[in-house]
Amino acid sequence: MGDAILVTGGAGYIGSHIVVALHEAGYAPVILDNFNNARRDVPARLARIMGRAPQVIEGDIRDAACLDRVFGAHDFAGVIHLAAHKAVGESVTKPLAYFENNVGGFLTLLGAMARAGCKRLVFSSSATVYGAADETPTPETAPHHAMNPYGRTKIICEEILEDLCAADPEWAVGVLRYFNPAGAHGSGLIGEDPADIPNNLMPYIAKVATGELAKISVFGDDYDTPDGTGVRDYIHVEDLAEGHVLSLAQLQQGKGHLVNLGTGRGYSVLEMIAAYQRASNRHLPYEIVARREGDVAVCCAKTEQARDLLGFDAKRGLDEMCASSWAWMQAQDGSKD
Ligand code: WQD
Repeated sequence: MGDAILVTGGAGYIGSHIVVALHEAGYAPVILDNFNNARRDVPARLARIMGRAPQVIEGDIRDAACLDRVFGAHDFAGVIHLAAHKAVGESVTKPLAYFENNVGGFLTLLGAMARAGCKRLVFSSSATVYGAADETPTPETAPHHAMNPYGRTKIICEEILEDLCAADPEWAVGVLRYFNPAGAHGSGLIGEDPADIPNNLMPYIAKVATGELAKISVFGDDYDTPDGTGVRDYIHVEDLAEGHVLSLAQLQQGKGHLVNLGTGRGYSVLEMIAAYQRASNRHLPYEIVARREGDVAVCCAKTEQARDLLGFDAKRGLDEMCASSWAWMQAQDGSKD
């Protein structure tokens, strides 16, 4: 059994894919999740992929006593911290909940890690910290410009980590700024599974393809982009997961880093719809509607730093993201818990 790694939020969409990637890399992932944004059948699905069930602890990062028990029971080689609220729109209407969970919970986790002497952390950050970046593709040196409370929680957490590492060089921290995760595991057993109407484009399109939703609302076609619709750097969730394993390996050598995780290639909303039509062989009706408040025209990663520091390169393209998402959606009929 390899090194134990705590994955907070490990039953979620991105977390579950990271748990598989850790297992395949020889680690022993341990999931801590409060299941407020994860289905309870995810661990059983992971067992079918991994050959054995990962250890799962139902708990909350805001519960210091729970965390001390978890760290007392394991000798973790590191922590991958994903547990956070992440809906931009919701953060605007519920800022206190976002700061309490994303920042307060993070501080509680860091305190438990420090008490346990566990000082290797991979932190899930987001391209949202760039806001409307002046430079695209956007380098890690671009200034922070939060457009919403969610983005501000990510900036605050990054700044906490900067100060912590400056005060105590024993900490080895990997900050990973995700662009737009999409797609699903090749087994069709895990994937993006929002309980209510999806905010994000790919899961929304997926539900139009299954017929669960009627049509796609395209939020504006008057942006300064080739076809006028928003351009984003979609990265396959399996590529994203593999980036976390590479990040952990660098931390085990004492090398901290801050990198974008993207492909460097942007696709517009209309290109995504066309790709999903090819993957699903379904006609996907859409309507151009007004822009969504707070959206930027283009958000795309400069990827050199992840390549140089982690040896990371995204391998999967848009068609594979759509095909894997569609396979996941088809495998889901009637099998939800
Ligand atoms: C993508 C494009 C929309 C839905 C968000 C968060 C970010 C990260 C990823 C957490 C945009 C357009 C969308 C729809 C549409 N999450 N769109 N119709 O906004 O780039 O990023 O998710 O870290 O923090 O901000 O992703 O998928 O919502 O939008 O036209 O029904 O699709 O305008 O151009 P976004 P998204």
